[in-house]
Amino acid sequence: MAVTTGKGQTMWGGRFAATPSDIMEEINASLDIDRRMAAEDIAGSRAHADMLAEMGIISEGDNDAIQGGLDKIVEELRNGSFPFRRELEDIHMNVEARLKELIGEPAGRLHTARSRNDQVVTDFRLWTRGALDEAMQLIAGLQGALVKRADENTDTVMPGFTHLQTAQPVTLGHHLLAYAEMLERDRSRLLGCAERLNECPLGAAALAGTGFPIDRDMTAEALGFARPMANSLDAVSARDFALEALAALSIAATHLSRLAEEIVLWTSAQFGFAQLTDAWSTGSSIMPQKRNPDAAELIRAKASLITGLYTSLQGAVKALPLAYAKDLQDDKRLTFEAFDTYTLCVRAMTGMIETIRFKPDNMRAAAAKGFSTATDLADWLVRELGLPFRTAHHVTGELVAKAEAKACDLSDLTLEDMQAAQADITDAVFDVLTVEASASSRTSYGATSPVRVAEQVAQWKQRLRLE
Ligand code: ARG
Repeated sequence: MAVTTGKGQTMWGGRFAATPSDIMEEINASLDIDRRMAAEDIAGSRAHADMLAEMGIISEGDNDAIQGGLDKIVEELRNGSFPFRRELEDIHMNVEARLKELIGEPAGRLHTARSRNDQVVTDFRLWTRGALDEAMQLIAGLQGALVKRADENTDTVMPGFTHLQTAQPVTLGHHLLAYAEMLERDRSRLLGCAERLNECPLGAAALAGTGFPIDRDMTAEALGFARPMANSLDAVSARDFALEALAALSIAATHLSRLAEEIVLWTSAQFGFAQLTDAWSTGSSIMPQKRNPDAAELIRAKASLITGLYTSLQGAVKALPLAYAKDLQDDKRLTFEAFDTYTLCVRAMTGMIETIRFKPDNMRAAAAKGFSTATDLADWLVRELGLPFRTAHHVTGELVAKAEAKACDLSDLTLEDMQAAQADITDAVFDVLTVEASASSRTSYGATSPVRVAEQVAQWKQRLRLE
């Protein structure tokens, strides 16, 4: 591609005798990425021009011309006629150059007391703030889906696992609400990030501030920031807001990945706990019986992709001396991709959770396997017979061994079997050996019993303003 801009035609070309090489242009251009910030760039320019006029740094007439030109650019962007030019490097230069074509000389006054360094990071903070909002809303949507399915399954018994070995019966509602809790912390991390992010770098200019009598409170307020950033060197070079967002997304995606892994397990023939609907399954080109949980698998893989984006940005920032360096241009590529990936994953997960068909009979049957009520038996021996827990643990261990030898469940042992291990066991023991009794008995705060889960569901509905 020939470089068509001659001397003086690039924005910064005044002191250059020759134009950049094609490869220089290629490595330097960020337009394909940062054109996504066109709306934020225009918002920043509007606020800046209004402030310049208010402070008498440019005339009202120039400001009117600038705002009118920006209106036209908004329209061109909307109807797709905006002439994006890669040789103009980035969205900032594209907007300014187009403004010059549209309104002439006043366009050249817009960049007074401003640099692309404070401009780009103002745009980027605005964009990230919007993206955080969207991500938080999507998380609330997924929480809503989890709560709804938990509500339907407060007393659906399934095996609870530790080490993926059957541990104790739990309720499906309890299991689903565990993810609602994780997602709440994810949301709160994003919110904390959005709050810290919300300071305005505009007016820091290139790095040292400006001698023009600007009003940074005015631009900060116009753009919805809480205040201007207090140090201009920090303002143009800080990217911890993006790092923090990506770190929070990486943790949030890790939570989605854990849930995705459960879906992969649950929908396998071996578990048989659930089935994804056709809309959320894919088939195999050779094995007609297959119903694959591709979306869940992709969410699992994309979680580490997001972590990779975080570490890439951390690597770009960690050795940069103050203030701005061009390394920072790639921050947007990484951040956009992280948000795009995460929001896609949340949407897919929400769709799967809303529609997945649970198989309560299979869950219940699995919950009864693996001697899952052994702890209930030991607790009964403590409560009813007054055995020390360690002794009860031992007696129960003997009974588990006996059931294993007879290839039956604890509840299938005879009273004689029981009494051979501990003479004073009575018939009443069988009441605690069902999985329903086991789950229902766990009524401590935060525990799995249907009563507690129903309470939690009610609180979640309030918190999420469902119903
Ligand atoms: N496209 C650039 C970026 O994203 C804008 C800032 C350029 N600043 C500069 N001093 N070259 O970082």
